[in-house]
Amino acid sequence: MPVVPNTLERLAMLRLNRAPGPVLDMVAAGAFRAATTAYEHGVFAELRDGPRTAFDLAQTLDAHEDGLRPLLDFLVTTGYLDRDGIYYENSTMTTRWLTDAPASTDVGPWLAMWETVVFPFWTTALDDVLATGEPDRTLYETLTEDPEAASAVQRGFVATAELALDGVLDAVAVPEGATRLLDVGGGHGRYAAAFVATTPTLTATVFDRPEAAAVAREVAAANAVGDRVRFEAGDYFADDLGSDYDLALVFNVLHAHDPEENRRLLARVHDALGSGGRIAVLDQFASEARTPAWEAALAFLNLNYHITIGAGIPDEATVPEWLTDAGFRAVRRESVGPGIAVFVAERD
Ligand SMILES: C[S@@+](CC[C@H](N)C(=O)[O-])C[C@H]1O[C@@H](n2cnc3c(N)ncnc32)[C@H](O)[C@@H]1O
Repeated sequence: MPVVPNTLERLAMLRLNRAPGPVLDMVAAGAFRAATTAYEHGVFAELRDGPRTAFDLAQTLDAHEDGLRPLLDFLVTTGYLDRDGIYYENSTMTTRWLTDAPASTDVGPWLAMWETVVFPFWTTALDDVLATGEPDRTLYETLTEDPEAASAVQRGFVATAELALDGVLDAVAVPEGATRLLDVGGGHGRYAAAFVATTPTLTATVFDRPEAAAVAREVAAANAVGDRVRFEAGDYFADDLGSDYDLALVFNVLHAHDPEENRRLLARVHDALGSGGRIAVLDQFASEARTPAWEAALAFLNLNYHITIGAGIPDEATVPEWLTDAGFRAVRRESVGPGIAVFVAERD
């Protein structure tokens, strides 16, 4: 929550319990929706090059000034905008995280994914999940009928990949002489594109459900590796994953499955690797939640996985065992960033 309560507010609400703390979450929920709306309507992009008045912005965005102005004012109080008289401008936080300014990482597509696809899914699935422990249909199953939502989800995942990319490239060494990479459940293929870009000998296959293909092609082209990254549509439990790969990525996939399915998937990936191949398995893990905000974020994601896919953040103590039982050796683990770790292992 970019609303930061001052000392008195923290004392009254959080320490002495004299004022209702849940109101902070209510305002934060509004701030999330306001920021996402502003992002999607191009407010932050329009303010990227300097301050503008509400009147001027309304003209450019084809909005009504009477609707836009209160949105801008709320965004000022929640840390997204600064105001000087009648001029509004992006805060430093917004410039850094919600625009394509130099040295920025735009997480806007990630927010948009939650606003347009994930939270609406919560609304329809929560009753089922509370009654039976899992949704009637998973979010991924519903995406087969909605290509626009499927692409919004993949673009959201791209934004998270951009945040983790440096840590991942540091933690996962490409085997000497490697030429073939398999990105299992690779979706958008941003990770595959990054590995290929840093290793000139490498080509990659991104294996995922067919609805991920559009964004994967966009991402490969945007990173100038379109000729070395191919997309293969299929079900990683049922369809042929190929063979003789040198490096396989299994990123953010385990949390969608139960232990038996994860064992089965890792065994299939083992068989798709050639002799001397390497696997890298990345996910969110509870032990990586080292501060209250990250602890809450991981509990939030775990709840989300139960609601959207009927699974949850895996117990990381079991991952080395799954890898060893699948035939891998020399399992090692590295922290990648807040909340995330990667296990790397070798195939004989
Ligand atoms: C959380 S995303 C991870 C995407 C990417 N690996 C990353 O880390 O950003 C999980 C991916 O697994 C894919 N997926 C889920 N079930 C699958 C299945 N049975 N076969 C192939 N892909 C599947 C989804 O379409 C989605 O792209």
